[in-house]
Amino acid sequence: MEQPDGLTHVHSGKVRDLYRTDDGRLVMVASDRISAFDFVLDSTIPDKGRILTAMTAWWFDQLAGIVPNHLLSLDDEPLPDRWRGRAMVCTALDMVPVEAVARGYLTGSGLLDYRATGQVCGVPLPPGLVDGDRLPEPIFTPATKADLGEHDENVSYEAVVAAVGEQTAAEVRELTLRIYRHAAELARGRGILLADTKFEFGRDPRSGQLVLGDEVLTPDSSRFWPADDWTPGRPQPSFDKQYVRNWLLSDASGWDRAAGGPPPPLPDEVVAATRDRYVEAYERLTGLRFADWPGGDEDDS
Ligand SMILES: Nc1ncnc2c1ncn2[C@@H]1O[C@H](COP(=O)(O)OP(=O)(O)O)[C@@H](O)[C@H]1O
Ligand SMILES: [Mg+2]
Repeated sequence: MEQPDGLTHVHSGKVRDLYRTDDGRLVMVASDRISAFDFVLDSTIPDKGRILTAMTAWWFDQLAGIVPNHLLSLDDEPLPDRWRGRAMVCTALDMVPVEAVARGYLTGSGLLDYRATGQVCGVPLPPGLVDGDRLPEPIFTPATKADLGEHDENVSYEAVVAAVGEQTAAEVRELTLRIYRHAAELARGRGILLADTKFEFGRDPRSGQLVLGDEVLTPDSSRFWPADDWTPGRPQPSFDKQYVRNWLLSDASGWDRAAGGPPPPLPDEVVAATRDRYVEAYERLTGLRFADWPGGDEDDS
């Protein structure tokens, strides 16, 4: 991996690469890689990393009255030009080892837990709920971070208390629900249901304060559903990856999911349609034009 001066590569996740600056800040670079059905696909979605970075930065602004965040700059030294719009220079935090999930609707792993136990992460729910139902109120459903390639594991609030202490657990739960409520209301006003979302918090090593880290409220960390199409009782179409998933499961892809092998590369029109959906999600949500976001004159990931 090519490494700009003044940066040391520290981690690569499925879609993002992490570097440390010489003076101890963190640089998160969002690539155009996309994952579906737990595979990172061979195809990339042009500008996806810039769109997700733009969304995260916009949300951090919207949430500034509720919670401090780790973003220091989008264009500071030592970022190379080719990362413009997709890289964030951040405060390096001591991360709280909890995936702080909030759910306002029932689906995914929450639905599986509910079907098995009537609860999600120990939170009891009313009987008779179906896939996509709105919950009586948003719930905190933490998970522990799994190693690369494995699924995060839903855990109870008590398990979070055991892991990070009562005070941090309570603070994380409270903040997670507060941020979710605010974001869901905002998205709802723009025709998007925020079904669920995941945050990661850390402590600023200087102040000890709890700070919102990672990416936030993107299609990679959340489920966004078009409000107009919401019909409980079936899987909801997702805002971003539906084209990808539909095509991969269609005869046209020739992919035998059950056989366990990786999916084939995406045809150009599926790539283009998927990019359009990411742009649309950003523009609908923010009311901004993606064409105005920095880095559009560069082409690189
Ligand atoms: N401000 C921060 N300081 C330190 N670590 C952070 C900060 N923000 C996010 N992280 C961590 O950076 C990593 C980002 O990795 P990611 O691309 O999500 O891949 P994965 O989660 O699959 O390892 C996560 O481990 C996350 O906890
Ligand atoms: Mg992650």
